[in-house]
Amino acid sequence: MKPREIKKNVFWVGAIDWDRRLFDSLIPLPDGTSYNAYLIKGKEKVALIDSVDPTMTEALLSQLESFDRLDWLISLHAEQDHSGAIPEVLKKYEMAKVITSSQAKGMLIDLLHLPEERIIEVKDGERISLGEKTLRFLYTPWVHWPETMCVYLEEEKILFSCDFFGSHLATTDLYVTDEGRVVEAAKRYYAEIMMPFRKIIQKNLEKLAPLPLEIIAPSHGPLYNKPEFIIRAYRDWVDDKPKNLVIIPYVSMHGSTARMVSYLVGALGEKGIEVRQFNLPEIDIGKLAISLVDAATVVLGTPTVHVGAHPAAILAASLLNILRPKVKLVTLIGSYGWSTKMVEQITGLINNIKAEILPPVLAKGTPREADFKALDDLANLIAQKHEQLNLKE
Ligand code: FEO
Repeated sequence: MKPREIKKNVFWVGAIDWDRRLFDSLIPLPDGTSYNAYLIKGKEKVALIDSVDPTMTEALLSQLESFDRLDWLISLHAEQDHSGAIPEVLKKYEMAKVITSSQAKGMLIDLLHLPEERIIEVKDGERISLGEKTLRFLYTPWVHWPETMCVYLEEEKILFSCDFFGSHLATTDLYVTDEGRVVEAAKRYYAEIMMPFRKIIQKNLEKLAPLPLEIIAPSHGPLYNKPEFIIRAYRDWVDDKPKNLVIIPYVSMHGSTARMVSYLVGALGEKGIEVRQFNLPEIDIGKLAISLVDAATVVLGTPTVHVGAHPAAILAASLLNILRPKVKLVTLIGSYGWSTKMVEQITGLINNIKAEILPPVLAKGTPREADFKALDDLANLIAQKHEQLNLKE
């Protein structure tokens, strides 16, 4: 690709990765991704904001050929999908220095073995001038890792937002053209990397709120030239109120747990509660993560394997614990053959979740009438609790 001009002397010089299907060897990327790097040409200095994933170094270096110098490489985030090509850029521009946050400095040295003398630290709120263009650094921790920051180009009102507001989308569109598609991808991204730090993300949003913004330029996915909708979406995701939504991730071996799930979905649906069920061995866990952003209740469905939960359910419980959604109620349903320790096991796996644990419903063998009655009682209890919680309309 060639550099694409965003505003006069401000260019996108990133790489589009159409084929990547997994991030961090965990997160499905159904639509690929992009690694956005930006070059700003001032009258006195030229700065590159971030690099690209090391697998795409050549795409970045070939675009840099269009520019005769580089003074500063601004690293907003030490993760390798943005920093991985920095060593090659520094080799090419022997006088260039890396500008980064104090915490990122150590991380870049550890991860990439960058020489310390080529790194300049900037403080939160500090400005640097490229001539007629001014960059202001804004620490925004935990928009993935603790060292992340944004940088604001004051004259052009562009926020280079790092992973904040990003979306894993491979597209030739420089700017968002389909808001619905981008919101879905950005929500998946928020759920997977920012939801555990929801309260800090709230603070970051407040910190950025006074900035006049014409463009948000994230480090993944298309840029926002009408940024209001994505800021509105983020405010919705980070606030404290969940929706009248139950999600049921489940796995079934011989059909007993599946029957229980199906019955509970019907019983909750009759009470006007939205329910989404996810058959764990077959789902894209990104879809489950998206639903966790809004859910008030999680019901995990699993049979007993020997005496514990099915490994797929254990993985789902671990994911719940890592992502720390704002769910208020959690419980377990499922079946067992002769004995089970699933409840103790699963509750022990979700210590990070500040939710009330409702009484589980466990059927011995194929569920009987009494088990379905217990599922009716559970549906009633969930409905009653949802009434009492101050849920989002
Ligand atoms: Fe896109 Fe956290 O790196």
